[in-house]
Amino acid sequence: MTQLPIPVLDEAIAQVAGEVDALFGELLTVPMDARQRLFEAMRHAAIGGGKRLRPLLVVATASIFNVARSYAVRAGAALESIHVYSLVHDDLPCMDDDNMRRGKPTVHRAYDEATAVLAGDALHALAFEILSDPATHPDPFIRSELMATLARASGPDGMAGGQMMDLEAEKASFDLPTVTRLQALKTGALIAASVEMGAILGHVPPEGRVHLRGYAHDIGLAFQIADDIMDVEGDPEAAGKALRKDADAGKATFVSLMGLERAKQQAEMLVDQSVSHLAGYGREADLLRAIARYVLERDR
Ligand code: IPE
Ligand code: IPE
Ligand code: MG
Ligand code: MG
Ligand code: MG
Repeated sequence: MTQLPIPVLDEAIAQVAGEVDALFGELLTVPMDARQRLFEAMRHAAIGGGKRLRPLLVVATASIFNVARSYAVRAGAALESIHVYSLVHDDLPCMDDDNMRRGKPTVHRAYDEATAVLAGDALHALAFEILSDPATHPDPFIRSELMATLARASGPDGMAGGQMMDLEAEKASFDLPTVTRLQALKTGALIAASVEMGAILGHVPPEGRVHLRGYAHDIGLAFQIADDIMDVEGDPEAAGKALRKDADAGKATFVSLMGLERAKQQAEMLVDQSVSHLAGYGREADLLRAIARYVLERDR
């Protein structure tokens, strides 16, 4: 199997991170009025942190189809905006009650709860404002499909639905198929949307997206299994967030249901399977292949 050397992946991550930071920096210019605190909280959450996995997936998928980079970066920033909003709300006292995120105080810690709720709301809206802008793609049909895809992946049939199931997982005793569905919604939906949106930008019709969807489905699950494993044996310093929380909360996760060793094997298997979905592509899909490995080998 072709393997992209790690420095190439590192460079790709650094480049996307720089582009996303620059775009958020531009879009979130702090106004000289009473909304200053809101913009600062949004900047705190969105700029300078995170792995930027979702924008990276858009860029990597779009590059297979020779999409203009600026379109892919904007679509990636829209995904990241939803992701960051979900993290701001996930960290609130009424949800996971966390103090650290991406190595910094969480938004409600650095500001206050009401500001964190509003920063999340505003980042949610910003995502769709980015996608509706002709700078994201000149064709309104493409923009509309991007918006519909992101909306579905964010709402009750996607991330928000998964977050609800995740809260229920502290009370109910979910079995493996239910936890798999929970994770597919909570984490998998936005990861799948990232690959899907790259393909949409590339004018790939739905019937041409089957293998890419298989890839995205498998790395999405592997990614969440890795997050659950990290919660048990990761280094909070490297992760930039509090760990060892799932077991304390009595939450059903892949690790609690399968045990650490089987969870690791399952994640490895999913990564191999995700790469096998790309067999029909050549070197142009090497970045996607490298991302699949990274999903598991990351320490943050
Ligand atoms: C954390 O997401 C929350 C989950 C969906 C598991 P990431 O691990 O992508 O967090 P960042 O963006 O790198 O901070
Ligand atoms: C959060 O999942 C996922 C979303 C924000 C949609 P977790 O609660 O497991 O994420 P971390 O561990 O706080 O990053
Ligand atoms: Mg949570
Ligand atoms: Mg959390
Ligand atoms: Mg977690």
